[in-house]
Amino acid sequence: MNDNARQSDVILEAQHLRREFGGLVAVADVSVKIRARTLHSIIGPNGAGKTTFFNLLSGTMPPTAGQVFFQGQEITNEPPYRIAHLGIGRSFQITNIFPNLTVLENIRLAAQAMGGDNFKLFRRFDHFDAYQKKAMAVIARVGLQGKSLALARNLAHGEKRKLELGIMLASDPQILLLDEPTAGMSSEQVPELLAIIDRIMESDDKTIVLVEHRMDMVMSISDVITVMHQGAVLAEGTPNEIAGNAEVQKAYLGALYGDLGSKT
Ligand SMILES: Nc1ncnc2c1ncn2[C@@H]1O[C@H](COP(=O)(O)OP(=O)(O)OP(=O)(O)O)[C@@H](O)[C@H]1O
Ligand SMILES: [Mg+2]
Repeated sequence: MNDNARQSDVILEAQHLRREFGGLVAVADVSVKIRARTLHSIIGPNGAGKTTFFNLLSGTMPPTAGQVFFQGQEITNEPPYRIAHLGIGRSFQITNIFPNLTVLENIRLAAQAMGGDNFKLFRRFDHFDAYQKKAMAVIARVGLQGKSLALARNLAHGEKRKLELGIMLASDPQILLLDEPTAGMSSEQVPELLAIIDRIMESDDKTIVLVEHRMDMVMSISDVITVMHQGAVLAEGTPNEIAGNAEVQKAYLGALYGDLGSKT
């Protein structure tokens, strides 16, 4: 792909993003381009600034400096609900789930919230029907068939992570920011979540930005990997390029995850 094609395909772009907390610089100067319909992973050691970076992209907190562009339009300092409505989905982990509602109700509410109908829920049956259909499709997409009438609080941990994903998908975002979607899952549960993420990418034509500590997962599903270190971008490239990057090995991967270069 030439540079022009690359440029035109950028869906989300951070330019020189910076975020300070008092004297601490969590994100120093991060410029990243996310291309449409790719799975772009952000990796880096604890405290590297990955979650803060997501917070800046999703409008959850304003940057100290720098800009964010979505489909060429500047969205820096837009409120989170506006950014969500534009099509950037962000997982907020368990807090987004209503524990005393069923899986179906949780997902349908998320679909309705984005449909703009939240104050006239059952005004028209065809709306209700459309949301119901949408919710059922999302439930199937995230592998929660058979659980649609279960109360969210009774779900197993891995199922809650799927519900979280479903709540994001219900609003039909173009791009999903996933912050450690496998957190707390056992290794046996990971492949299923990977397959779900893969299907969302391929069948639903989405762009995914993934923060994840499981290196085998990151290496196998990413198109592009950006390595963050101490709030800055240390390297960016394909999984092979990153695994073979001596600087990354030295500063991060080698120390934390063993010699990945030998695995590929
Ligand atoms: N709201 C906040 N107030 C003060 N400091 C913060 C805040 N959020 C993050 N930090 C600090 O900013 C730095 C980056 O944190 P961040 O959570 O972005 O890292 P991370 O890469 O997501 O780490 P992890 O892999 O552990 O999730 C850390 O030093 C953290 O303590
Ligand atoms: Mg984090």
